[in-house]
Amino acid sequence: MLLGLGGLYGAANLIPDPKALADPIQAPEFKSCSEARDVQSGDVLDVNCCPPPSENIVDFKLPPVHRMRVRPAAHKVTKEYLAKFEEAIRRMKALDKDDPTDPRGFMQQANIHCAYCNGAHDQVGFKDLDIQVHNSWLFFPFHRWYLYFYEKILGKLIDDPTFVLPFWNWDNPKGMQMPRIFDNPRSPLYNTNRNQDNRPPAMIDLGFSGATEDLQKVVNNLSSMYSEMIRSVNSTIDFMGQPYRAGNSPSPGMGSSERGSHIAAHVFVGNPKNRYMEDMGNFYSAGRDTLFYSHHANVDRMWSIWKTLKTDVPKDLNDPDYLNASFLFYDENKQLVRVKVRDCLDHRRLGYEFEPVDIPWLNYRPAKKAARAKIKDISSGAQKADGLFPLTLKKVTRVLVPKTAKGKADEVLVLENIETDTTKFIKFDVFVNDEDDKTEELDKAEYAGTFAQVPHKTKDKKGKSNITLRLTELYEDIDVDDDDTIVVTLIPRSNGDDVTIGGIKIIPSPPRSGKMLKTVKELGNNALAIVSQVSSILSTLQEPSAHRKLVGLDELRYLMSMNAEHHRMLKADGMKFTPNLTVAKDGSEKFTTISAALDAMPEKY
Ligand code: C2O
Repeated sequence: MLLGLGGLYGAANLIPDPKALADPIQAPEFKSCSEARDVQSGDVLDVNCCPPPSENIVDFKLPPVHRMRVRPAAHKVTKEYLAKFEEAIRRMKALDKDDPTDPRGFMQQANIHCAYCNGAHDQVGFKDLDIQVHNSWLFFPFHRWYLYFYEKILGKLIDDPTFVLPFWNWDNPKGMQMPRIFDNPRSPLYNTNRNQDNRPPAMIDLGFSGATEDLQKVVNNLSSMYSEMIRSVNSTIDFMGQPYRAGNSPSPGMGSSERGSHIAAHVFVGNPKNRYMEDMGNFYSAGRDTLFYSHHANVDRMWSIWKTLKTDVPKDLNDPDYLNASFLFYDENKQLVRVKVRDCLDHRRLGYEFEPVDIPWLNYRPAKKAARAKIKDISSGAQKADGLFPLTLKKVTRVLVPKTAKGKADEVLVLENIETDTTKFIKFDVFVNDEDDKTEELDKAEYAGTFAQVPHKTKDKKGKSNITLRLTELYEDIDVDDDDTIVVTLIPRSNGDDVTIGGIKIIPSPPRSGKMLKTVKELGNNALAIVSQVSSILSTLQEPSAHRKLVGLDELRYLMSMNAEHHRMLKADGMKFTPNLTVAKDGSEKFTTISAALDAMPEKY
């Protein structure tokens, strides 16, 4: 497809490169599947992860949904459920021995991930370009489809079409350890290729904050969830990942969720004693761990939750190259099926949903800072950006960055041309106007977001990407002064030596390309409960910026100790969801904008 860039397009400045309006990534041709390569050295791997070829391909049809299947939280499953799940995995593993060419076998299923991520599949029509399902907008849809078929196969193997995978609820304090059902050495769910130090009760650190105290980890986890789902996200692409079309080089850039919690769980589980952090710490081997699928069930859940958030970022990508991208999977009857991204956008249409559990990060906006930071004080030790960049992130670095407008503006921070050694795990955090050096605390107003990368294969071992972090809410919370400059602190968390940042700048928020929220009236129905005090439950709006009550450490202690029944009881017990504020743009309510409503809100709400 060829399109001139002129008129509207030329002016819109929304098109990153001339190849952009190309074509969707097409499902690979299995018969031309080639060897997989190690993501670190580029060496050919000692595994054949090519699926059995088949000429007989059918197009996917949405199944009639009679009854919604409900994926349970892994830490809450019943004995009966666990017995079924274990039996299904046992049978899937048995297929490896009984018929290694059966595409439904455990290793065959694991190899799907390897083939789609380690360069075994070429892009159709582009011999030199791999298909890569990470580091782009294909991330969520690919993994949704992958799990869909995996789950169907497990169901078929135990003759239970209602079977569902459990999700690892790592975004809730009760799920922030490897789920116990995966840690029983006598269970087929067990895997020895995991980090032994991180077995339960070790607490995951989703933000790689390095915190040592469990409670600080929990607080950090909720803070980084809030950041990657809400606070730092300015556009649909920021969350979903960068556009990736036929003819594009793989890995254009991850969305906030992929590079945040998603990566953290992979690294937490992978065994650092293995050369490539197998199993979970590397793409080629991740699917060999049963826990991988429950991890991704929660990633999938994050996508579905994100779509319900009433933030001003549009939740759907309407680009035909996204909607028409396709993949191939074997279904539960060994039939090769071609699926398109467009058919997986609503998981309910695929017949499943998630067990409702509390989502404490939804309202985890950091506490407003009591006093403004004085730019004069914090800028000591900070350097001007010009001359400093390109910057290799060897140590914590403080940079003065000019704003586009004074004070609380709607702006984003852009880190450009981040060049990384793609064979390394890379992670750094970004803070704004931070006065202290408590780098292990993410639960503060100054935390702006994060960059991360898992090792992956590219042509020249060098990857380049940008990240955009929204500052609008942060400015409110740190009560940014009328300054025209902020101080950005860059904190390397992993392999800072191997990342070079090309430039840093602040620009006005680019278009989110959607209509603003019209009304938050209906939010009352979706509102989610969090525990705010030992004896009461606070109902809140799902609109994040409309709510300032925070879960503190004491509340968290309580939340973690409270049993589910009690919680459910409290919830059922006369709990009313009433919006605390109502905003309508058309003037039919007291406030026409969220910020006006917020301004009218009592300080101590
Ligand atoms: Cu396809 Cu979480 O990796």
